[in-house]
Amino acid sequence: MKKISHDIVVIGAGAAGLFFAGLAGAAGHDVLVIDHRQKIGEKIRISGGGRCNFTNIFTDASHFISQNPHFVKSALAGFSPQDFIALVERYHIAYHEKKFGQLFCDDSAQQIIDMLLGECRTHQVKTAFGQPVKSVSKTLSGFEIRCEDRQINARRLVIATGGLSIPKIGATGFGYEIARQFGMKLVEPEPALVPLTFTDRLKTFCAELSGLSVEAVISHHKTAFAEGLLFTHRGLTGPSVLQISSYWQAGENISVDLLPGYDAEALLLQAKKASPKQELHTALSTYLPKRLSASLCAYHGISGRLSDLPASALTSLSEQLHRWQIKPAGTEGYRTAEVTRGGVDTADLSSTDMQSKRCEGLYFIGEVVDVTGHLGGHNFQWAWASAAAAARHL
Ligand code: FDA
Repeated sequence: MKKISHDIVVIGAGAAGLFFAGLAGAAGHDVLVIDHRQKIGEKIRISGGGRCNFTNIFTDASHFISQNPHFVKSALAGFSPQDFIALVERYHIAYHEKKFGQLFCDDSAQQIIDMLLGECRTHQVKTAFGQPVKSVSKTLSGFEIRCEDRQINARRLVIATGGLSIPKIGATGFGYEIARQFGMKLVEPEPALVPLTFTDRLKTFCAELSGLSVEAVISHHKTAFAEGLLFTHRGLTGPSVLQISSYWQAGENISVDLLPGYDAEALLLQAKKASPKQELHTALSTYLPKRLSASLCAYHGISGRLSDLPASALTSLSEQLHRWQIKPAGTEGYRTAEVTRGGVDTADLSSTDMQSKRCEGLYFIGEVVDVTGHLGGHNFQWAWASAAAAARHL
């Protein structure tokens, strides 16, 4: 078995790991990045529909979920979206803002991977891809990392193995195992930014409308997101649903407003006065897609001509249109989740440099940490910012 040593070993060549390696290399450190996959950066490649929503110009702590909502502040302040944009511009990668401050490559997410690898190459970072790690142990001077064909000694070890979402492109719970091994706590990992599934009547309702999308506001307790909602064969997806899934817990309801910005009751009472012979679903279809209007009337058991419907029925339907309480049966799970909520407990990490409070020289960066961003480029900004925080304080 080959025995080698490096100043710093990074496990995980995704967004956070590659970015950290380039920065640490630039600061003069001797860095090795290991990944169990030969093909690295896969999540970057498939992100943003292949165009990578690489940051969000409005990123701040309010766009993250964590047991400690303050944890992200120091790292985000130390490395801003503009800092990452400057690097993107240095590599002449053309980009555009889609909406809500979300920045995407004009051409391809591969450009971001190439940029990160370019930084690693420029700063003499060594790589070992397609190299599963067998074990990690603490030594007097740092860590011993055993792979199939080599034993590596390092002064510092950076865990950047991400979360559990999309196992078929390399996600594993390796980072969580290492955290446990070194006595660190975990916040139970759960799929997040994930489609919600339903059973029984609601499943049939959604399946019949599969492919149809509307603008909606979806809320859970005091959190609400106003964006698209898309019906699927198994339930609901679309940006507003993905966002609320990060807050939803099994057994809870979510509330759906299908007519945000309107007063459904006033509209229906007015329609009853103006066109009493009109069918309820026809009146509704002025504001909602026809198929959805008909299905909603049938689902809530309120239909017929407006003149035949008492005001109380219209009020009751309006209530359902604005505050429809539905209970998801579950989520589509890690197979389709964009991220993992939970992870390494921030109470066991320094918010300044992401170093473990339980083990000197051990760092956790990126999605493996209990920090989950909203949809829209915030998760990558966390990967860059947490990596930069660790690299800045080496
Ligand atoms: P990441 O998952 O990128 O990298 C982890 C690396 O560790 C991988 O290379 C993996 O192979 C390696 N690894 C895992 N286990 C290992 C082991 N046992 N040994 C060695 N290596 C191991 N975010 C965003 O901001 N904008 C967007 O547009 C999108 N879009 C998007 C689409 C889809 C479909 C998904 C699934 C996710 C997104 N995201 C996103 C989320 C974003 O991709 C994610 O938050 C970051 O990639 C996290 O970066 P990390 O470096 O922490 O993990």
